[in-house]
Amino acid sequence: MIPDIMVEPTAVTLTNDEIQEFESMYSEILEAVIKDYENSKDQLYLATDWMVKAINYNVPKGKKLRGLMVPITYRNFVKNPTKEEMRMAYVLGWCIEILQGACLVADDIMDKSETRRGQPCWYKLEDVGLMAVNDTFMLENLAYKVLKLYVSKEPYYMEVLEITHEITLKTILGQCMDCHMENSDDILESFTMDRYSSIVKYKTSYYTMYLPVLFGMIMAGRGRDQKSIQKVEEIMLDIGHYFQVQDDFLDCFGNEDVTGKIGTDIQDSKCSWLFIQAVQKCNDKELECLLNNYGCNERGKIERVKRLYKDLELENVFREYENNVYLEIVDKIQKLPVELPGKLFEMLLLKIFQRQN
Ligand code: FPP
Ligand code: MG
Repeated sequence: MIPDIMVEPTAVTLTNDEIQEFESMYSEILEAVIKDYENSKDQLYLATDWMVKAINYNVPKGKKLRGLMVPITYRNFVKNPTKEEMRMAYVLGWCIEILQGACLVADDIMDKSETRRGQPCWYKLEDVGLMAVNDTFMLENLAYKVLKLYVSKEPYYMEVLEITHEITLKTILGQCMDCHMENSDDILESFTMDRYSSIVKYKTSYYTMYLPVLFGMIMAGRGRDQKSIQKVEEIMLDIGHYFQVQDDFLDCFGNEDVTGKIGTDIQDSKCSWLFIQAVQKCNDKELECLLNNYGCNERGKIERVKRLYKDLELENVFREYENNVYLEIVDKIQKLPVELPGKLFEMLLLKIFQRQN
């Protein structure tokens, strides 16, 4: 018997107060971390001042989609959570946001990006530069510090710890594949849809979509329910794939004022969803143009690729993909066993459907 499971016609959302509590948990967590180091007789303040600066710049300014997904999931698995349980869910949410901050600082260096979340990338700041490399380690390990400070007395501490390590490594492997694609000798042969799917699964879907839901389920005591976890993994990886296709689309077609970042996929010669679609629609002349201009950091060449993407009407191809994938995922969700809150997954999918940033 599983008494806490909700089988409700609609998903439970967070109240405004709960969202507010999640938000204010950020400064509480930061204070707790700093306080822990302040007691030291060593002159650690030299580093903690920098740490505060790095965290405030890179962690709290995003959409917080991943962070909020933890308490949302928990609320949909446990009927009447206590305030303390919700606090734990907020903390786990912030741990993912901190990891996300670490990933983005590192990714922007690797992708040679200029802006992120409407501000210059961290490594681009005059007083940061390559110090940003150390800051990625700092942010990543800070997530574990927060887990220790807040979650170490909970029965699910080890489970959360292990899964976080495992999924971080998966993300790193995904990033490795993503970056190695840039050096392909023959991009026509290398950039296949199968390969794209593998890269995306590892670099994005596991930590963006699966991890937050898994955290919520682990907290709810459902982390070892292998059958359910497998189904959830499949659905969340599908949603993650869709999320990254959107990211690739927005890299070229998004409004920079809304996405907060300037795309780099074309000049970085990324194995992007748009490139794969373009190759499928190109005639010989267009293909020659694509291959001659892709992967060069020259304004004119980047513009030529963008023009080609427009001429090939990739915006329409994307819209059609988006509508189809939405229906396919909803169909899968509706076939989930009743002990899983299907409406939760529909709501999570809706949160990113047709997103602009
Ligand atoms: C953004 O993708 C980046 C990721 C999805 C993952 C980056 C992962 C790492 C750097 C490895 C893990 C690192 C640490 C420190 C744990 P994108 O480049 O496609 O998207 P963008 O448009 O947001 O740049
Ligand atoms: Mg990248």
